[in-house]
Amino acid sequence: MWQLLRPAALLLLVSADTRAADFSKAVVLLDPQWDRVLRNDSVTLTCQGAYPVEDNSTKWWHNGTLTSKQTSSYFIADAQVEDSGKYKCQTGLSAPSDPVKLEVHVGWLLLQPTQRVVNAGEPIQLKCHSWKKTPVVKVQYFQNGRGKKFFHWNSDFRIPKAKLEDSGSYFCRGIIGTKNESSESVQITVVQDLETLQTVSSFFPPWHQITFCLVMGLLFAVDTGLYFSVQRDLRNSKEWRDGKVTWSKDP
Ligand SMILES: *[C@@H]1O[C@H](CO)[C@@H](O)[C@H](O)[C@H]1NC(C)=O
Ligand SMILES: *[C@@H]1O[C@H](CO)[C@@H](O)[C@H](O)[C@H]1NC(C)=O
Ligand SMILES: *[C@@H]1O[C@H](CO)[C@@H](O)[C@H](O)[C@H]1NC(C)=O
Ligand SMILES: *[C@@H]1O[C@H](CO)[C@@H](O)[C@H](O)[C@H]1NC(C)=O
Repeated sequence: MWQLLRPAALLLLVSADTRAADFSKAVVLLDPQWDRVLRNDSVTLTCQGAYPVEDNSTKWWHNGTLTSKQTSSYFIADAQVEDSGKYKCQTGLSAPSDPVKLEVHVGWLLLQPTQRVVNAGEPIQLKCHSWKKTPVVKVQYFQNGRGKKFFHWNSDFRIPKAKLEDSGSYFCRGIIGTKNESSESVQITVVQDLETLQTVSSFFPPWHQITFCLVMGLLFAVDTGLYFSVQRDLRNSKEWRDGKVTWSKDP
């Protein structure tokens, strides 16, 4: 019974845990979606969480320090390097969110990937963002120093289905006015879907079932073994007694 109860209790714990994570932890969303922006860009962070009826205020932390902002949206109109760092939020009926990292860079061009870690088969999309959206021409995207794509007018570079070999260090460059400008490089990692599967299955490992079967099998084996050995012992002792009886009769 204990062997049956334990996996059930574990499953209950796991589901209670995911339910708590789903409903009571606040989430910080970025609009636009980029977690790396250029100086003077505008960014809106929005806190998603449950509010009690009487209190619509939101708590915002920047680099671990509680800020004076209390609205559900944290608007940064003119991003500066000091706006970089980790943002967390919390509403009256939520636990503090996981931190969201924002990077504010100084430069003419910035490579903005939709994701830095991509599952194989999913798209990779890179934007060559320019300071204050200044027009850029002859835009070229590079992977590990090799030119991958050229656009006469600035466009996003899209790989519809990422392969493992699309991992690497990417940057873009182009002409702004008369100047030839380059972005810093960003590491993009393509992972096999398997990793996601492994992560998911590690939350629900078949270990409980395996252990359960092993323990039951072992108990059965021990039980059967005991049964036969007791039976043999009984038979032996009977034979021995009979033998003894026979032997004691002899003289
Ligand atoms: C951009 O930010 C700089 C400070 O980093 C500031 O001096 C400048 O006025 C801003 N430019 C615009 C157009 O907002
Ligand atoms: C809360 O709601 C009131 C009334 O709708 C509004 O005036 C106030 O600005 C809100 N406060 C926040 C922090 O959103
Ligand atoms: C927050 O941390 C980031 C990086 O650690 C730093 O660049 C930024 O200046 C910090 N800002 C404040 C206001 O503490
Ligand atoms: C920009 O500079 C690189 C070398 O730094 C050069 O190879 C490339 O041709 C230049 N691009 C244009 C469009 O002039």
